[in-house]
Order: sequence, then structure tokens, then C-alpha cells
Amino acid sequence: MTTLDDMLALAREAMARAYAPYSDFPVGAVVRASSGVLYSGCNVENSAYPQGCCAEASAISAMIRGGDRRIVEIVVMARSGSLCTPCGGCRQRLAEFAADDVPVHVCNPDGVSRTFTLGELLPHPFGLSIERAADG
Ligand code: THU
Repeated sequence: MTTLDDMLALAREAMARAYAPYSDFPVGAVVRASSGVLYSGCNVENSAYPQGCCAEASAISAMIRGGDRRIVEIVVMARSGSLCTPCGGCRQRLAEFAADDVPVHVCNPDGVSRTFTLGELLPHPFGLSIERAADG
């Protein structure tokens, strides 16, 4: 069974591989799936700015490719001094696959700064219920 420390280690690696030449703000994200498998992602920017991809979106893509559908724990990591809560769009992306009580650990490379629940960050998500997304 992997631990929160394993998630932090994976987030550090992902953050180190981010492609963020425009913002100079590398982000790593890790989701733990209900299977226990950890999936990571980093932000990938583009010279056409709106085409950039957040770290959380990359981690979700890896999870879907890996065959998992339900998220039970989330880590988002950015540089020290920042409190990198998921952006609004990523809160909705995460809510597609995670229930309200899923913890979102907002981290720096040295550890967790604050833990929220996804329901605190996005009280009223649009659309599909988690049950439908997990079954689909
Ligand atoms: N970013 C993420 O990857 N995740 C977040 O939760 C917030 C912001 C990225 C998007 C962009 O590449 C950079 O951070 C600056 O906004």
C-alpha cells in the first residue's frame, strides 16, 4: 500500500519534468485511484497560451489510460511560498471522478501546506454524478 509520502515523491518528480517556459510555474499532480495505483502528471504549456494543460488534467489522462475511473486522494504540488489550489476548471475535472469527501493535499516540495476536501473547493459541480462517471 502506498503512502502520502509516496504521492509527494511522485509529485516532486512530475513537477521537475513540467514544461512551463511561459509562466515559469511548474506544477506536479498525483491522483490515487480506488485500485491503489498512483498516477502523476505535470503542466505542459504552449506558445498558444490557452492550449496549455494543467498538471491535474495530465494526471487524470494517465489514470484513464491506466484503466481506473475513481479518484480517492489528490496531491497538487508547486514551488515553496505558493498555495497552489486547483484552478476552477481542474476542480470540475477532478469532480468528474472524485467524491466530495476526497482529500486534496496542496503541497510544496517539502510537504503538505493545507488539505481541503474536493467538496470544499467545488461545492456545486456541474453534471454527472460520481456514480455515473465511475460506472461509465
Ligand atoms: N497550473 C496547474 O498545472 N495546476 C494548477 O492547479 C494551477 C495552475 C498551471 C497552469 C500553468 O501552466 C501554470 O500553472 C501557471 O498558471
